[in-house]
Amino acid sequence: MQKQYIPIPLHFVDIGGGIPLVFLHGFPFSGAIWREQQKAFAGLYRLIIPDLRGHGGSASTAGVYEMDLMAADVFNLLDQLKIDKAIWIGHSMGGYVALAGYHMKPERFRALGLIGSQTSADDSVARERRSQLVEKVLQAGVRGAQVVTDAMIGRLFAQGITPDPELVEELTRLMLKADPTGIVGTLKGMAARPDSTPLLPEMDIPFLALTGAKDVIIPPERAERMGEVAQTPTVIVVDDAGHMPMLEQPYATTEALRQFLESVQR
Ligand code: MLT
Repeated sequence: MQKQYIPIPLHFVDIGGGIPLVFLHGFPFSGAIWREQQKAFAGLYRLIIPDLRGHGGSASTAGVYEMDLMAADVFNLLDQLKIDKAIWIGHSMGGYVALAGYHMKPERFRALGLIGSQTSADDSVARERRSQLVEKVLQAGVRGAQVVTDAMIGRLFAQGITPDPELVEELTRLMLKADPTGIVGTLKGMAARPDSTPLLPEMDIPFLALTGAKDVIIPPERAERMGEVAQTPTVIVVDDAGHMPMLEQPYATTEALRQFLESVQR
């Protein structure tokens, strides 16, 4: 029997018109990371940019945020907006949520794009690392966001290239706003996610894997590997970008997305 999830209302942006295009952010950010793509695509698509459960302006709840639960929140939002089918683009954890959504209701997808993300589940080392981070966040109490920010900030950007200090500051500020309850629920949910790789050969909609060439959080080889098994893949490697290509190389990333989105409509 399928598990029942109780969705919560999400804080979201709904702007533009045309084919619905959903952008899902990664952990522990918010829809704000899509600022450049929002500018570029608002005149071309109907953009739906939520803050996922426990992130940005959306509420946190106690418990484990399974990727299916977060996807159920997004379906609930799309139902509320009377959107049946959409193109889903997910960054990192947002990609895990998009994959969970595709597994649940493939008929609601026109195309699926992953940015700095992967279909693989956590291995035992990654799970252990997350569990240690959960412990540290719990011990830090209200300062939990600082713990995660310290753990992640140095690994977000292209290695070997000095990151733009304003971007470092912007993302640091965003991460420090993350709610510790949401952080813990999400870390546990990501650790529990299944391997979605078996979905790829069956996926009969356009599939994009875009990666920063210098991503050390989810290495670019993962995108290449997904491209080898997917039925209709587009694999794009953005030079001089790490885990946040949409902000580190906004022009190249947006152009690559534009081409992919155009191909979806053909
Ligand atoms: C993210 O950016 O969403 C996370 O780093 C993903 C992860 O930890 O697996």
